[in-house]
Amino acid sequence: DPALVAAGEKVFRKCKACHKVGEGAKNGTGPVLNGVVGRPAAAVDGFKYSNAMKAAAEDGLVWTPENLHEYLAAPKKFIKGTKMSFAGLKKPEDIDAVIAYLSTFGG
Ligand code: HEM
Repeated sequence: DPALVAAGEKVFRKCKACHKVGEGAKNGTGPVLNGVVGRPAAAVDGFKYSNAMKAAAEDGLVWTPENLHEYLAAPKKFIKGTKMSFAGLKKPEDIDAVIAYLSTFGG
C-alpha cells in the first residue's frame, strides 16, 4: 500500500535521530534497520545491543509485524531494560505505517 508506506516515511522522522535505513546506512545511536522486519532481534553486526535485547534474542524474539507493533508502542514495556530511549508511538496507525515503510528496505 503506497499510501501507508508514504505515511510511514513521515512517521520515521521520529526515528531518524537514531536509526538509518537505505543504501549505505550505518549504525548510529540505534542499529541500521534495513531488513529488520521478519528478522531475529539483535542481529545487526557491529551494533552493541543492551543485555536485555540480547536476552530477548536468545529467547527467540523475531521482529514480526506483531512483535514490532508491541515494541514500538511501548519499548520499555515490551523489553524491560532496552536501551532504546523512545517513549513509543501512541497511534496504532502510525505504527502500522512505519512497519510498512521499514518493510520496503531489504537486508
Ligand atoms: C532498537 C525501531 C526510535 C534507539 C530498535 C529496534 C527496532 C527499532 C526495530 C530493534 C533492532 C534490532 O533488534 O536489530 C525504531 C523505530 C523508531 C525508533 C521504528 C521510531 C518510531 C528510536 C530512537 C532512538 C532509538 C528515537 C534513540 C533515542 C534505539 C537503540 C536500540 C534500538 C539504542 C537498541 C536497543 C537495545 O539494544 O536494547 N529500534 N526505533 N530508537 N533503537 Fe529504535
